[in-house]
Amino acid sequence: MSSTTDTNHPDAAAPRTDNRTPVLEARKLSKSYGHVRAMVDADFELMPGEILAVIGDNGAGKSTLIKALSGAVVPDHGEILIDGKRVTFRSPIEARAMGIETVYQDLAVAPALDIASNLFLGREIRRSGPIGKLLRVVDARAMRTEAQSQLDALGVRIPDVRQPVESLSGGQRQSVAVARAAAFGTKLVIMDEPTAALGVRESGMVLDLIRRISGRGLPVVLISHNMPHVFDIADRIHIHRLGSRVAVVSPRTHTMADAVAIMTGAARPEEVGGRSHYDERASQRRRTDRDGAGPDGAGPDGADGAGPDGADGAGPDGADGAGPDGDGETRS
Ligand SMILES: Nc1ncnc2c1ncn2[C@@H]1O[C@H](COP(=O)(O)OP(=O)(O)OP(=O)(O)O)[C@@H](O)[C@H]1O
Ligand SMILES: [Mg+2]
Repeated sequence: MSSTTDTNHPDAAAPRTDNRTPVLEARKLSKSYGHVRAMVDADFELMPGEILAVIGDNGAGKSTLIKALSGAVVPDHGEILIDGKRVTFRSPIEARAMGIETVYQDLAVAPALDIASNLFLGREIRRSGPIGKLLRVVDARAMRTEAQSQLDALGVRIPDVRQPVESLSGGQRQSVAVARAAAFGTKLVIMDEPTAALGVRESGMVLDLIRRISGRGLPVVLISHNMPHVFDIADRIHIHRLGSRVAVVSPRTHTMADAVAIMTGAARPEEVGGRSHYDERASQRRRTDRDGAGPDGAGPDGADGAGPDGADGAGPDGADGAGPDGDGETRS
C-alpha cells in the first residue's frame, strides 16, 4: 500500500492549474488479479477540453486503469467521479450511457462488416414503424448516410462506407474505430494505444483525428508509448508506474527524457522538470488549429521551426517504447 513512498507525491502528481471540476476523476482505484496488483491506489484526473496522455512501461497498469474508467473492469476499491459526482460502472454499456467512449488496445472492429455497420455496431439504426421495432430491421441507408457524414465531419477520407473494414489499411481501420468513439462520445473519448500498429503516415492521420475530436470540445485520454506523439499532442501527461500514478507533467516544463526517467523510476518527479524545452509557438499553433480559429495568436511565421532541441514532437530518435535516452532500466 502506498503512503509516503515516491509513488504518491500529491503535488508532483496533480499540478492542477485551475479550480475546475475534472470531467472524469478516479481516486485510489485498486485491482488485483490473484497476487498480481494491476492497480494500486491509482488516481486520475481529466480536465475539461484537454488531451491527457497516459504513459508507463509495459505492465504498469495503464490498460487496467482505462478499463476501470470505461466499465470493462470493476475495481476492487476506489471511486470514480464524473463531473464531481460519484458513479459506478458495472459494464462498458453503463459507461457508454454516460458518454464515455473507448477505443481499446485490442481493436474491436468487425472486419467482415462494412464501415457503416462498424460505426453503428451495437447501436444500429432501425427502420421506423413496426418493421424496425418488432422485426428489428436495420435502416442501412440511414446508417450509411450518417456514417458518411460522421467521417466527413472528422475529415476521415474513405471512398465508400459500404466497403468491408477488412479492405481498409490499418490507419483507416483505426480511424473508423476512433470515429465511432467520437461519434458517440458525448463526455469524453479514451484511446488505448491507437497508433501502436501504424506507420508514420497512418499515425499522423489518427493524431489529426484526435486533434479534431479535441477541437470539438471533447476531452481525450490517449494511452501511448510513443513519446514524440505524446509530446506533440498532449496538454498534460499522466505518468503511471507499478500500478499507480506517480506524476502529471506538462510538455511545457518537462522533456521526453524527464518523463521517461520518472516512468522508469530513474528519477523522482521532484528531481526533474522545470526546464522548458518546449516550443510555445508550436503549442499555440496546435491550440488554434484545434479551436478552429485562425493562426492569429501565434503569428503565421516561424510557427513551424521547432525549438532548437526539437522537443516539439518530432524527436528524431527513440520513437518507441523506452524513450530516447535510455536512462534507467526499464524494469526492476
Ligand atoms: N485479466 C487479467 N488477468 C490477470 N492479470 C492481468 C489481467 N489484466 C492485466 N493483468 C496484469 O496486470 C498488470 C497490468 O496490466 P495492464 O494491461 O494494465 O498494463 P499496461 O500498462 O496496459 O501494459 P502495456 O503497456 O503492455 O499495454 C500486468 O502485470 C498484467 O499482466
Ligand atoms: Mg495496455
